Amino acid sequence: MQKIVIQGQNKLTGSAKINGSKNSILPMIAASLLTSDEVVLEDVPQLRDIVTMTRIVEDLGLSTTYDKDTRELKIKFENEENVTAQYDLVKQMRASICVLGPLLAKRGRAVVSLPGGCVIGPRPIDLHLLGLKALGADIRIQHGYIQARAKGLRSGTIHLLGTFGSSVLATGNVMMAACLAQGQTIIRSAACEPEVVDLANFLNTMGARIEGHGSSEITITGVKELHGTRYRVIPDRIEAGTFLMAAVASEGDVVLKNVKIEHLGLLIDRLKTVGARIDVTKKNEIHVTRSGSLKSIDFTTLPYPGFPTDLQAQFMALLSTAEGSSVITEKVYPDRFMHASELMRMGADITMETGMAVVRGVEYLSGANVMASDLRASAALIIAGLMARGKTEIDRVYHIDRGYETIDRRLAAMGALITRED
Ligand code: UD1
Repeated sequence: MQKIVIQGQNKLTGSAKINGSKNSILPMIAASLLTSDEVVLEDVPQLRDIVTMTRIVEDLGLSTTYDKDTRELKIKFENEENVTAQYDLVKQMRASICVLGPLLAKRGRAVVSLPGGCVIGPRPIDLHLLGLKALGADIRIQHGYIQARAKGLRSGTIHLLGTFGSSVLATGNVMMAACLAQGQTIIRSAACEPEVVDLANFLNTMGARIEGHGSSEITITGVKELHGTRYRVIPDRIEAGTFLMAAVASEGDVVLKNVKIEHLGLLIDRLKTVGARIDVTKKNEIHVTRSGSLKSIDFTTLPYPGFPTDLQAQFMALLSTAEGSSVITEKVYPDRFMHASELMRMGADITMETGMAVVRGVEYLSGANVMASDLRASAALIIAGLMARGKTEIDRVYHIDRGYETIDRRLAAMGALITRED
């Protein structure tokens, strides 16, 4: 098993290019099940989650080829005999649930393993099932699998509102299925995340008729079939946010390229409040610096355009040495504080209860042996390691390879003393 070793307190300087968005690419790979033509995705990073998703669609009769030089992923239809997404693959990544809608819409049948538990808390799929049932699917849960059938999906008006608000992948799943349904489907309380908008734009280039994406009401007029496409995905706003915070944490001077500023508005605003200076230097390029100590801030995670839950852990790491106390309210995954206990091993002063954490800033963090519990928690520990005095060793770094391509090498290129060891 590999670990990441960081000698803290080195400033990051230079520049980094942000990769294509993982959370856009995953449902787009699933959406390729909707066509018998070739789909080409551009700016695809080499990530474990993307490999897992390609394995799932390969099992379902598509072939995939990835070109490391052009960073293009080509997906081709081969056959549609198999409609079962097996537990072995689905359990590795919850996003695999988004093959359900496309399979059902194109092949009339889908058998998808229930994704199972997750370290960041319960992750129900009731909204996915509710939406597909409203389109006329017959869905049963048997032997740990979702068994879904439909003789041609019909349209409907669907309210996709859960206890914690809208759902990104449920919106995506229902939107993908509705592309081939008869008539006009309206999704109310739809997720507004940029990745949902990107998926809708991608589907429209395949001949889908989707309107209203980016708002809470999406209208989909069903078409008979979708054709192939070539599509460039949006930059990954969570990767951009993580790099921004790493730069601020190290008191660095960094330029980030391939950044969609409008997707990062709230984070940029909050980072300025805690002491960062962030300037837009060119279209899709920002310059981040910091001088002086960090200030505390309260924030609440919410669906977009609220503060993203996927950046909560990283911001908590940053605030652990801010002056004063910060209150973090987690409204998307109230149990998502696994990283807090590891940060406390590095000297952070954090108390937690369900859905809330109070971070009292300490003078400094000290390097320690810590363990990554999930993807974004690993990113938080890297940020903490960059800030800490001395050496930090992060175990279970396979989590980070799910969502950040060679993060250790990219940070090292900007001056971080970071290595990966076996
Ligand atoms: C996506 C992102 C993930 C991010 C999350 C929230 C991808 C591949 N993953 O996951 O990185 O953390 O959005 O921004 O895009 N819920 C229900 N019932 C459902 C579905 C969800 O109650 O059927 C709840 C969840 O438990 C959670 C909230 O809704 O509390 C939001 O989850 P959701 O938006 O569905 O997350 P994902 O789409 O799975």
